[in-house]
Amino acid sequence: MTTKKKTKKRSSELTKEESMPKELVIEPVTRIEGHGKVTIFLDQNNEVKDARFAVTQFRGFERFVEGRPFTEMPSIVERICGICPVSHSLAASKACDAILGVRIPNPAIKIRRLLNCGEFIQSHALSFFHLSSPDLLLGFDSNPAERNIVGVIKANPEIAKSGIRLRQIGGHIVEWLGKKRVHPAWVVPGGVNEPLSVEHRDMMLKEIPEALEIIQKTLRFFKGIIEDFRNEIRTFGNFPSMFLGLVDANGNWEITDGYLRFIDSRGHIVADMVEPSRYKEFIGEAVEEFSYLKSPYYKPLGYPKGMYRVGPLARLNVCNGFSTPLANREWAEFRDLERGPVLSSFYNHYARLIEILAVIELEEQLLNDPEILDPHIRAHASVNELEGVGCVEAPRGTLFHHYRVSKEGLMQWANMIVATGNNNLAINQSVLQVAQHYVKGDEITEPMINRIEAVIRAYDPCLSCSTHALGKMPLQITLKDCAGRIIKEVVRT
Ligand code: MG
Ligand code: NI
Repeated sequence: MTTKKKTKKRSSELTKEESMPKELVIEPVTRIEGHGKVTIFLDQNNEVKDARFAVTQFRGFERFVEGRPFTEMPSIVERICGICPVSHSLAASKACDAILGVRIPNPAIKIRRLLNCGEFIQSHALSFFHLSSPDLLLGFDSNPAERNIVGVIKANPEIAKSGIRLRQIGGHIVEWLGKKRVHPAWVVPGGVNEPLSVEHRDMMLKEIPEALEIIQKTLRFFKGIIEDFRNEIRTFGNFPSMFLGLVDANGNWEITDGYLRFIDSRGHIVADMVEPSRYKEFIGEAVEEFSYLKSPYYKPLGYPKGMYRVGPLARLNVCNGFSTPLANREWAEFRDLERGPVLSSFYNHYARLIEILAVIELEEQLLNDPEILDPHIRAHASVNELEGVGCVEAPRGTLFHHYRVSKEGLMQWANMIVATGNNNLAINQSVLQVAQHYVKGDEITEPMINRIEAVIRAYDPCLSCSTHALGKMPLQITLKDCAGRIIKEVVRT
């Protein structure tokens, strides 16, 4: 990452004519997946008045799939996002299971859970080690030319190597199950299309001790430096809100199956054991003209009061605990940070590490279960229901796919609520909080821009997926004065 900042004169030093054209500062930097736009509005005193996070691209995947046979959905939706194809494929398959009206065989349930473990390991490792560790290791104010993965390799080669290795281990699960690392096309309506071989099971088991060691070491390291980020903890999306996540039948942390649980900002459960097929009773989707990304909200509270957060922090806040021992111990320590729910979105980084530990433990349990090798992996049926909802936890939060089909099984209508959408209101509020804290006057500094980007990054948004678009696009940050004139604009490609 090199930072070339073509800083022009500050607007206060410009003549009236000069101040009219917008300033453009290009920095070839991105550590967020996708495309987003941040606009910060100043008042007469150059204090931050408002901030908006918007997604500006729209490819309309929901429309695009109309008319397709529903059985193609799990593989079509893998193209929505290069970052979380497995999550979409799993949510789609579950919506399709509901249309078939079947209960899928146990071995298939377990094998899908195993696949989700792989997705969590690789995605969380990417987020923590590659995208966020430069800030965490080198500091938010460090030289941007070195604040990147190369800088991390220099400063702490062990952390850098750990990240690469963990991503590899997660990737192996996805690859060995789906035969391809990206776009596995292997989860199908009614189950999965190939059983797990003894050989691949043993290869996965062999990597577990190393994975456990890496993540425990990383957790110790992170807990050791967390005190250095008091300011960021205080200002990176630290406010009361509701939280949503899946829990299992005992109320424990769950990512692949389970029920919706909403809690309020004080930790009281307000909706529990909700079948995901009933999501529309609880979630409304507001449309804001400045963004193509909808703003879901908790319906009983209305918009925008019903803001809730999803993702690692939310999942650790809503659950009663973990059903695996190592993660449960870490969770108890994590929840001791505050009396009620842990409110700062900065703690998503911490929560992500605990979740990596949890999925490695879960992976080990699944692989040691002999049923995981059972070849009875798919239920066959034709269309029995004209509507189906599938829901999983993607690494970045709760993901819904909702389909309606004709009697012939052709897609009539689709609605998808992606994790970044669920977090939309909270990301907006977080950006505002950071801007109010760090933007001073009409000066725009690199550490300030970096913190705005970093607070968005704490949610690990995959913006390509939020807009149902393909590929990666840049983040643009614009600072506007009280007259609506652009003072600064930064494009990170
Ligand atoms: Mg939608
Ligand atoms: Ni995605």
